[in-house]
Order: sequence, then C-alpha cells, then structure tokens
Amino acid sequence: MDAKHDVLVIGAGCAGMRAAIEAHDAGADVAVVSKLHPTRSHSGAAEGGINAALGNAADDDPEIHAFDTVKGSDYLGDQDSIEIFTREAPGDIYQLEHWGAVFSRGEDGRLAQRPFGAAGSPRTVYAADITGHVLIQVLYEQLVKRDIKVYEEYFAWMLVEHEGRCQGVICWDLLHGGLKALGGKTTVLATGGVGRLYRATTNAYACTGDGMSMALRAGLPLKDIEFMQFHPTTMYPSGILITEGCRGEGGVLRNSEGERFMERYAPTAKDLASRDVVSRSEQTEIDEGRGVNGSVLLDLTHLGAEKILTRLPGSRELAMTYAGVDPIHEPIPVRPGAHYHMGGVETDSDGLTEMTGLYAAGEVACVSVHGANRLGGNSLMETITFGRRAGRAAAEWALSHTTVTVPESATRDAERELSRLLDRSDGERPWKIRDELGASMLKNFGVFRREEQMAEQIEVIEGLRERYATVVVEDKGEVFNSDLTQAIELGYLLDVAACMLQAGIARKESRGAHSRPHDYPTRDDENFLKHSISRWVDGGPELTYKEVRMTKYQPEERKY
Ligand code: FUM
Repeated sequence: MDAKHDVLVIGAGCAGMRAAIEAHDAGADVAVVSKLHPTRSHSGAAEGGINAALGNAADDDPEIHAFDTVKGSDYLGDQDSIEIFTREAPGDIYQLEHWGAVFSRGEDGRLAQRPFGAAGSPRTVYAADITGHVLIQVLYEQLVKRDIKVYEEYFAWMLVEHEGRCQGVICWDLLHGGLKALGGKTTVLATGGVGRLYRATTNAYACTGDGMSMALRAGLPLKDIEFMQFHPTTMYPSGILITEGCRGEGGVLRNSEGERFMERYAPTAKDLASRDVVSRSEQTEIDEGRGVNGSVLLDLTHLGAEKILTRLPGSRELAMTYAGVDPIHEPIPVRPGAHYHMGGVETDSDGLTEMTGLYAAGEVACVSVHGANRLGGNSLMETITFGRRAGRAAAEWALSHTTVTVPESATRDAERELSRLLDRSDGERPWKIRDELGASMLKNFGVFRREEQMAEQIEVIEGLRERYATVVVEDKGEVFNSDLTQAIELGYLLDVAACMLQAGIARKESRGAHSRPHDYPTRDDENFLKHSISRWVDGGPELTYKEVRMTKYQPEERKY
C-alpha cells in the first residue's frame, strides 16, 4: 500500500470537495483522488444556479420545492430523500455564502433567485451564469485552508474490496506513471456522470462513468440508469451548455418560422417547462422540418444589452466564441444534448452504497432525488447537500474502525490488466470504438426511443464490446499516457451503456426522460412505478426492480 487515510474521496468536483471538507471537519484524515486538478472539474461547467427554497424572490418553502421535485421526477424520485434534500438545502446555501461564494444579489441586498424550469417559485440562487465555477473556487479554497491532501492527476481504476468492505482504490499515476495503491477505511465515489457516451453532450471529456463502472465491477447496483437527461439548450455544433438561466431571464425558443413554439407544447409553462418536455418539443420541431441546421433558435435579443451583460455574460461570451453570434443582436442555435444522468450507484440518504465502507455522492450516485427527470438547479444543490452527508457518514464510520488493508492481490490484478492492455501490439484504437458508440447512442437512445432502435443499439454495444476486447494502446510510455487512460475509460463507457439499454428496452412506458411515443406513449404507474436496478453478472447486465419510496405525494397526471 502506497498510502492510507481514514477517508478517501474519489473525484474533486463539488460533491467530492464538499464531502472531503465535511469528513475533515468531523475529525477524519481525508485525501482526495482526482484525475483532474479540482478547479478543472466538470462541476465548473454548471452555469445557471443552485436551488434552495429561500423565498427571497417570491413565497417559497421546502415543501413546495419537494413537491416540484417529485412532480418533475415523474414520481420516480424517492420522496424521503427529496424531503431531506429540500429541507437541508437552504442551510447549505448559507454555508457556501459564508465561505465566500459571490452569489448575485437583489435590490434589497438578499441573495437573488431566478426562475428555472418547472419550479413553482423563483428559487435558483446564482452567481451571474458562472455558478458552478464560483462554487468550485470556493470549495477548493476550503480544501486548501484545511490542508487536505489531493492526489492530483491520479486516475482511479479499481476499487479494493477486502474482507467484505471497501478498503481503498488502485490508481494510475498520470504524471509519473505506475500503479498506486491507496487505502481508505472508507471511500466516497464522487466521479460525476457519463455524458461522453453521446456525441452531442454538454459534458467534459472527463465524464466517462468511471465510478459507475467501478461500482458495477465490484458487484454493486446502478439504479434508474436508463434515464439520461437531454438539456434543451446546448450550442450547435459544439454541445457547450447555454444555461436554462437564459430562459429564466426571459429568453424564448423559436423555430425556423420565427414561431415561439413552446406556446403550443406547454401553454402554461412555455419555455420554462421541464427539460424533458422542452427537449422533446425541440426535437419534434427539428424532425418535422422547422429546425435550422439541426437546431432551433434561442432568442435573447428582446432582453436588452444591459440584462445580458449583467446576468448572462458567460453565455454571451460562449455564444460569440463558439457559435460566432452575439446574443444581444442574434439568436443562438441550440439543440438537445446529453447533460445529466438521473441514475447512478444506488445509495441511501447518507450516501452509503450496498458495500460497507463505500459511499457515493453527486452525479455518480442515485440517492434518487431526480427520478426520471431532474429539475435544473437541483444537481448543484444535490452535490452540496448529499456530498456533505456522505462525507459526514464516511468519516463517522472510519473514525470508529481502526484497520485498513490493501492486499497485494489487488495490485497484482491491476498489473495483470495493465499488461494485457500495454503488451498487445495489434488491434483497434480506442477512439474509433468511442466515436461509433457516441454516434450510435445519440441515434438509437436519445430524446425519443423506439423498440427497434434500442434492439439495434444492444447489438451495436455487444459488437463494440467484442472489438474492445482486443483494443490496442499504441503509447507504451509512463508519463501522461492518455492513450492508456482513454482505453480504460472506454471500458467504463461500454459497461454503463449496456446497462442503460437493457433497462431502457425493458421499461415499456414513457416517463420523464425515457420517451417511447411510438409504442408506449404514456406513463404506466401500474407496471412501472418502480426503480430499475442493474448489476453486472457473468459478463453482462442483469435487471431487477425495486419499489419507489413514497411519503405524501401520490402520482398525478402531468400538465404543462
Ligand atoms: O442550464 C443550466 O444552467 C444547467 C443547470 C443544471 O443542469 O442544473
């Protein structure tokens, strides 16, 4: 073992850093392991804000926030987790503010809150349109202040299970090369999502489902993994996010005829309907020939220069740099793109997984507050609230147990796998398989899903898995061998894709982000008000189901 700690946190985005801070403050010796420098984590790409029922812009209450979240989830969210979430969110916001988060303020000096999709009150706290960026800076400052050890540019590869509990992780040291065995009495997975499964995505290149796949391979279940959220406003052609905050500030979507088409699809909520609804509406406009180069248009021109410059300066800069349009004068071309995974590693409301000693928080996890569709602004909040809870629980367990062992056999397993990848001199390069995976997932398992396309995609994935078995890593070097890490990441992507397709084809209904307009156009509570649970058994995914935990909200028909 190269080093050991009470708590190891894998991933240094908002969830990971918040977990590490809390575990440290609970008295544990904590280390963070990250394949990126913390301030380069994908949480920094979150723009429009973070939801908490502060009631600064209109009447609000954690109960209303809970109801909106349950309804937005299309009743698949676990209501006990949702109630904890909305009750604890306001305190977590004030904590961030006291640490120095420079949130935007209203005229009265209180934290400003803007409307976001499907929210019953303007409850999204924001820092202009760079909220994620602000939060990772603040959390990183707190990490540095506490002198928390960060294993930067360490690529987490395999969880160490020993004597029935998680006792650490085997990593590849990106900077120097070589395997490193890190022991932890407890481990918190906070590795983010898997948006890179899709060719059109807001996600960074780092979002390859590492933690989801590591957990699967350790025998743990993924929950509701078929539910991938498509964000309605990702820039064409880059996929870079243009925040929902643009519509929160009054922006509208138009088709090639200049029509504000959301008035037809969602007469009440219009452009601020929930993301699944807006993405489907856009895709319908595009499919029916009212798009513009495979996109629709996000029109902010009526907001005026001052509002755009003060509330949405980041979006303007992104549009000018990557789409060549200045939104003060012209609309931005946008289309739905893979954005966020509602499913993930199953946890309880303290982040505990099925394996003693292993916790998960943030997008890698499914504590089940988002169900079948997440509300914008709820994910940054989830990283903070459930990152904190997981960090506290991981520290408490670690502090009441003394030993940590990483057996030699764990490192030997990783060495064997490494030789398998590096010793091969003939075969296919990973990028080719990855590109085919991204394109086929977008075509066959996107905003709309059809039985025959899902069946085709299952075959595509099986074929790609066969080709992956003989993938060749041409770079045999030690230092920053991205050829090697991308080959490993591709394995992670393929694992998660196989689970998504199996769960997707078996869910014979339309719920939230899983939309089957051609064969099962409606929600079927009688047969499918249940979580899908995917495990990796004998070389493939295995699907079972589990009850949704309900407290006080009974399913109602959704109206827009
Ligand atoms: O549109 C956005 O600003 C994204 C926010 C989110 O996904 O929560």
